[in-house]
This record gives sequence, structure tokens and C-alpha cells, in this order.
Amino acid sequence: MRAEFTSTLETSCSLETEELEERLERACRGGEIIALVGPLGAGKTCLVRGLARGLGVPDQCTASPTFTLIHEYRGRLPVVHVDLYRLDAEEASNRLGLEEYLESPAVTVIEWADKIATLLPRDHLRIELEHRGDERRQITLFPLSASYQTLVRDVMNSARHRGGQSA
Ligand SMILES: Nc1ncnc2c1ncn2[C@@H]1O[C@H](COP(=O)(O)OP(=O)(O)OP(=O)(O)O)[C@@H](O)[C@H]1O
Ligand SMILES: [Mg+2]
Repeated sequence: MRAEFTSTLETSCSLETEELEERLERACRGGEIIALVGPLGAGKTCLVRGLARGLGVPDQCTASPTFTLIHEYRGRLPVVHVDLYRLDAEEASNRLGLEEYLESPAVTVIEWADKIATLLPRDHLRIELEHRGDERRQITLFPLSASYQTLVRDVMNSARHRGGQSA
């Protein structure tokens, strides 16, 4: 992971986090894989909601999947929302059928992605979220290939235009 392509920003409320993902959505062409990593309540589902909204999926569809690990939404591009919180072991992921989704033209967003780190293709966008007190969250984007570097650069440029903070 090359540090010079890493981008960090802070959001001060959930709406700002959703807006970040709406900007990310605009840069997606389909086939992207976005791995979300961060503790409980960090804002992973919040990011997915923003992304799905940007793709035209109604908000009520994007509550955290409670009984199924994988949800599909229809928008401008299909969105596959995977939440692995309740996945105990990597072996269990063999039964998920995730590989099929990873090769599809959907935008695939995976909460608790570190649980299946070895199953993820090398080429993906990793997003780490951290609590920074109250409603502040630090969000770091790690593009793991050239195409994701372009995507992150576009997102960060639009953040700057809106007064977002970056490093
Ligand atoms: N800056 C912020 N960004 C995102 N969420 C925020 C922010 N500030 C406050 N919140 C609140 O934090 C909570 C984040 O919840 P969310 O379900 O998105 O977290 P999560 O990372 O998906 O957690 P889990 O691991 O339990 O699925 C929401 O209640 C949201 O309103
Ligand atoms: Mg969640």
C-alpha cells in the first residue's frame, strides 16, 4: 500500500459521511469492490447508504442487513451490500458465494471486510473508519490499484471544492 496515494479526511456528522460516498458513487463505473473496515458504529453502513442513494436506491432499502449477509439493490448500477459482522470464521465465507459477486458488474461494498481479507482480490478500494470523538469520524481511503487511485483523486478533488479536509 503506497502512502502517497492514501487520502484521509474527517467528517463531523453522518450526513457528511453519506455525502462522501455519494461522491464516490459518481466515480464508480461498475465492478468496483469497496472494503470497509472499522469498529462498531464507525459509519460503515452510513457510507453504504450514501453510495446506494447516489445510485438511486431508496433509503429504506439500505438498513443494515440483519438476517442475510448479502443484499442486492437496483440503482443506476447494481449495488451488492455485504455485512460480515456475524460471520464467525473465514471457512464460513466459502458458503457465501461471494466470488460470484466479486466478478459481477455491480458495485460491491463489504462491511467487516477484514474477515475475508484473503478472499478479496488485490485490486480493490479499502476504506478505514475510526471514531474521533462525538460525531467526528476519520475516513482513510487506500486505493490498491491505479484505477482506484484515479477514483480516489476524483473524490478528494470534489471534497476540496466543497471545503472538505484532506491530507
Ligand atoms: N461523522 C459520522 N459519520 C458516520 N456516522 C456517524 C457520524 N457521526 C455520527 N454517526 C452515527 O454513528 C452511527 C454509525 O452507524 P453505522 O450503522 O453506519 O455504523 P457501522 O460502522 O455500520 O456499525 P456496525 O459495525 O454496527 O454495522 C449512526 O448512528 C450515525 O448516525
Ligand atoms: Mg453496519
